Amino acid sequence: METFANARELSKRAAFEGDYVLGHSQREIRRLTIQGTLLRPITERLMRQVNIGPGMRVLDLGCGAGDVSMLAAELVGPTGSVVGIDRSAAVLDVASQRARLAGLKQIRFEQAAVQNYSSDESFDVVIGRYILHHQSDPVDFLRSAARLVRPGGGIAFHEIRVVQTADSLPYVPLWQLAGNLIETACRSGLPHYDVSNRLIECFFEAGLPQPHLFCETLIGGGIDSPLYAWMAESLRSFLPQLAKIGFALGEPGVLEAFEDNLRAAVVEARSQIVAPAQVCCWTRM
Ligand SMILES: C[S@@+](CC[C@H](N)C(=O)[O-])C[C@H]1O[C@@H](n2cnc3c(N)ncnc32)[C@H](O)[C@@H]1O
Repeated sequence: METFANARELSKRAAFEGDYVLGHSQREIRRLTIQGTLLRPITERLMRQVNIGPGMRVLDLGCGAGDVSMLAAELVGPTGSVVGIDRSAAVLDVASQRARLAGLKQIRFEQAAVQNYSSDESFDVVIGRYILHHQSDPVDFLRSAARLVRPGGGIAFHEIRVVQTADSLPYVPLWQLAGNLIETACRSGLPHYDVSNRLIECFFEAGLPQPHLFCETLIGGGIDSPLYAWMAESLRSFLPQLAKIGFALGEPGVLEAFEDNLRAAVVEARSQIVAPAQVCCWTRM
């Protein structure tokens, strides 16, 4: 039986940390912002459950283009503060520019790996979205994150469940195919693609209190659904990983019409489509 500890050991050896599977191209940054808009209500629910509110000090782990940091900044208001950290300098430039345009002066971005990050003051809440599955050792990552939380403060994660969750009724083969390809890319390219289903185990191994959990699923259909763009851009971002395992779809341009093709197929079938489930957890220290 595959145990979490075994999987953790294997991926540590593979040293995935220096090999972030999605990269930070302009197109990937665009995908992150489309994704950020879709996920915002779910992340906001998590932030409210962990009690992020005015005046608080929040740390966003692996902030990417800054969507989670900006949402936290709105909740803490001008009297609070948010620090967003990410290993990638390129993505932090985008995040800083977006925060500036939004007039959110209470955010600061810093380039750092979570495992090496230290701060003079601890945080009321430490949060991360779509970050645990990228870690070669999520338990060690959780311990590093927990060290940054003040006693009584909160720690929260929003992750994605990629295994067999894309669905459609009536059945739309193209939607299912996209879901299956993304699942394959995640299984082969992410060190812990299944961590969203192992959060209790992970928190236990890190010596943290058992997390509260909830799960939400994005569903849609019809001409205007943003799910087509999300699926098409996600598939595009995973093309290099699919090529790595020997499934080359050709030049990136091959997906130019994919979003429109998905929309047309779903609309024609009058299908109700289901996107991968969103799993959130939080606890207090
Ligand atoms: C999938 S993106 C998610 C970005 C953002 N949290 C969001 O939801 O829009 C993951 C980000 O985490 C960063 N990252 C991954 N592991 C990290 C680590 N150990 N320390 C700092 N940043 C990390 C990557 O560079 C990437 O920008």
